[in-house]
Amino acid sequence: MAIPTTRQVVHVVRYPDGMPQEADFALDQRALRAPGAGEVLLRTQWLSMDPYLRPLLAGRYAVPRPELGAVVPGGALSQVVHSNSGCLAAGDWVVGDTGWCDYATLAAESLRKVNPVQAPLSTALGVLGIPGLTAWAGLKTIARPQAGETVLVSTAAGAVGSVAGQLARLSGCRTVGIAGLPEKCAIAREAFGFDECVSHQSPTFVEDLRAACPEGIDVYFDNVGGPVLEAALSMLRTRARVVLCGMSAQYNQAQRPAGPNLGPVIGARAILQGLVVFDHLARFAEFTADVAPLVRDGRMHYRESISEGLASAPSAFIAMMAGRNLGKALVRVAS
Ligand SMILES: NC(=O)c1ccc[n+]([C@@H]2O[C@H](COP(=O)([O-])OP(=O)(O)OC[C@H]3O[C@@H](n4cnc5c(N)ncnc54)[C@H](OP(=O)(O)O)[C@@H]3O)[C@@H](O)[C@H]2O)c1
Repeated sequence: MAIPTTRQVVHVVRYPDGMPQEADFALDQRALRAPGAGEVLLRTQWLSMDPYLRPLLAGRYAVPRPELGAVVPGGALSQVVHSNSGCLAAGDWVVGDTGWCDYATLAAESLRKVNPVQAPLSTALGVLGIPGLTAWAGLKTIARPQAGETVLVSTAAGAVGSVAGQLARLSGCRTVGIAGLPEKCAIAREAFGFDECVSHQSPTFVEDLRAACPEGIDVYFDNVGGPVLEAALSMLRTRARVVLCGMSAQYNQAQRPAGPNLGPVIGARAILQGLVVFDHLARFAEFTADVAPLVRDGRMHYRESISEGLASAPSAFIAMMAGRNLGKALVRVAS
């Protein structure tokens, strides 16, 4: 295949104010840099839509936000088109931080090679990718669920939450999910095996959660923060563990809200611990050895919300930030 000299990208037009808008992003054509020594040219197959992009664009993330006009940052599953590295060959599949584009030139050493026969390729961005690793690491290193315990998981029908819930259920726990739309609660119960799932959009959410966890909560895997975290904290059992994984409820807010009341944490002698998946990247092989067989033999289910074409990336991202994704949100760039 001839090496292309231009590429399509989606760039940042302006930083979102509140809920992101399509006009915050724009598609354009740019020159494509030829790969140098140790670099590879990649063709994007699947783009990963991830909530951290929103705080990143707000300047509230671990790395500086992109300049206006820069390619929107993001991870992708890509195929190597041309390689100047001994580690990768044309045809190999990799995951890397290409940003929202159809072609990218990156250092081979920054990429994670994917086994294409292990599971469908797109799973490398979801159940067998960073979201799956996040759920696995949070349970293994912080929550340590024991059989018979009640494990509560928010964004239960999402990429991280669906894996956290299923791994807890496979450990013999009773699992209770929290999701937004009623159809997401149904998927959480029917596809991901949660014993119960309550909607945080219901006017009776706190009462519903209390009814779903009559004996309290041993583990809360928190992906949202805000009022949902506050409600969960009030139901902690003695020596509960809380995995602080994400703060989706505040990503679209201009100001950081006042924190939840932490009083119940004291009474429960509970442990709250922050989780950063990048601390666990060295355990990718161990995670894959644990979870890939579960995916292969159907004990671990996953769902994907797929949008078609690079130009649909902004609307796919907005839909995810509005909670309209079911499972891992992805954009198919190359057919
Ligand atoms: N700590 C780490 O290293 C790490 C790594 C990866 C991901 N994360 C975090 O894990 C969380 C889940 O990520 P994901 O990739 O699996 O995304 P996801 O759950 O597939 O999608 C994001 C979900 O957030 C929920 N949400 C959005 N706005 C909300 C609001 N105002 N209140 C409550 N919920 C809201 C929606 O689900 P519902 O409609 O069902 O509520 C939406 O579907 C995110 O907070 C992300 O930042 C953390």
